[in-house]
Amino acid sequence: MKIFESQNHKIIKGDSLDVLSNEIADGSIDLIFIDPPYNIGKNFNGNKDKWATDDEYLHWCYTWIDLCIGKLKSNGSMYIMTSTQFMPYFDIFIRERLTILSRLIWYYDSSGVQAKKYYGSMYEPILFCVNDPNNYIFNSQDILVEAKTGAKRKLIDYRKNPPQVYNSEKVPGNVWEFARVRYRMDEYENHPTQKPVALLERIIKASSNAGDTILDPFSGTFTTSYVAKNLNRKSIGIELQEEYVKIGLRRLKISEEYEGEKLQKEIRTFETKKIQKHNSITVNLFE
Ligand SMILES: C[S@@+](CC[C@H](N)C(=O)[O-])C[C@H]1O[C@@H](n2cnc3c(N)ncnc32)[C@H](O)[C@@H]1O
Repeated sequence: MKIFESQNHKIIKGDSLDVLSNEIADGSIDLIFIDPPYNIGKNFNGNKDKWATDDEYLHWCYTWIDLCIGKLKSNGSMYIMTSTQFMPYFDIFIRERLTILSRLIWYYDSSGVQAKKYYGSMYEPILFCVNDPNNYIFNSQDILVEAKTGAKRKLIDYRKNPPQVYNSEKVPGNVWEFARVRYRMDEYENHPTQKPVALLERIIKASSNAGDTILDPFSGTFTTSYVAKNLNRKSIGIELQEEYVKIGLRRLKISEEYEGEKLQKEIRTFETKKIQKHNSITVNLFE
């Protein structure tokens, strides 16, 4: 285990079971966001996201879910993701331990063909759970979205007395549309399942306050910690793979180098072409 720390942000390179058991105090976390391996065969820097049996995967998940729940403060919240096929098991396991307030769908569009012989997967499920349904943080005013109904067309709601123009904003429902992180997007990092900044912004704004501590036990590219920092929260991110820890150190500006290696964002192919074009124009100008 290796711990990197700067001001209010901690990056821990290690196995989350070990780190959760030995490094994080019980009852110390305001919000936990969990985006674990989904057991669908993704390649996490050479580590295959596939267990020998479904039972083995679920047994592993149940162990860290229980550990995570123990870390929550009494008014804490937890958001947890997994693949559509395993979410029903998570739901049944967690509802015995926490109150599940929302079963969210993160929906995205895709121009590519997902499947030809069945309906392709276009969403990922998220459970929003709290320790105490009578005492939890929910900053609804910080996550308002446009209400597409009346407001735009200045329709009048005649059910109100006196009649009023419809609200132009509302609290989002349980289907969230955010674009997936694509190769050409500024936020892109080299990771197969990076989550969008916009998704984490909604979760962190809604379920924590400035100064609160947010834990992500499967940090990947450290999107949670990155957004937590931008929103003046504290963060603890855990990740097994060194390559991804390096992304986190750079993204959070904790370090500019790792064991003598300068940490730089990988240059994407289209950026190489741009650089080549720029260089050839510069050369031409001086010829
Ligand atoms: C679905 S990804 C998380 C992506 C992340 N939310 C993001 O925005 O980039 C899951 C991550 O868990 C890491 N991981 C897998 N097993 C782990 C373990 N036992 N302890 C810590 N991290 C682990 C993988 O390397 C992978 O980066």
